[in-house]
Amino acid sequence: MFLAACVTEGEDTAEAWCADQPEVTWDSFSHGFMLDYCTSCHSVNNTGSRYGAPEGVNFDAESDVAAQVERVWTRVVADEDMPEAGGVYRDDLYLFDIYLTCTLDRTP
Ligand code: HEC
Repeated sequence: MFLAACVTEGEDTAEAWCADQPEVTWDSFSHGFMLDYCTSCHSVNNTGSRYGAPEGVNFDAESDVAAQVERVWTRVVADEDMPEAGGVYRDDLYLFDIYLTCTLDRTP
């Protein structure tokens, strides 16, 4: 696990951690992140091939991510096995963690 290690210990720790982070929003960062790394497989617009991505697991809108925030965090930030091929830039992972944990208020 990486930079997020400090936020997994509880809500108070997460709050303190979030207080020191820059603001990361859907419009400023996460929409682009999903387009870069996720929607090639996870999109309602993929009527042809989803490369095995489960039906109904889509990330076209912020509400899609919010509804699955815990699974998204686990797969992308903690386990780093989504996207399957890996290759997410460290800086992007860090900002995405801030987005999930602080902006979407993921419960650590
Ligand atoms: C190359 C295609 C591909 C890309 C790109 C991809 N996924 Fe997936 N995803 C899959 C497949 C296939 C599965 C089903 C198998 C599995 O769970 O490993 C899946 C399953 C999932 C699940 C549901 C399973 C669970 O653990 O709850 C989530 C959540 C998920 N992906 C998130 C993401 C996110 C977030 C991204 C972008 C950072 C992403 N995926 C990028 C193919 C992809």
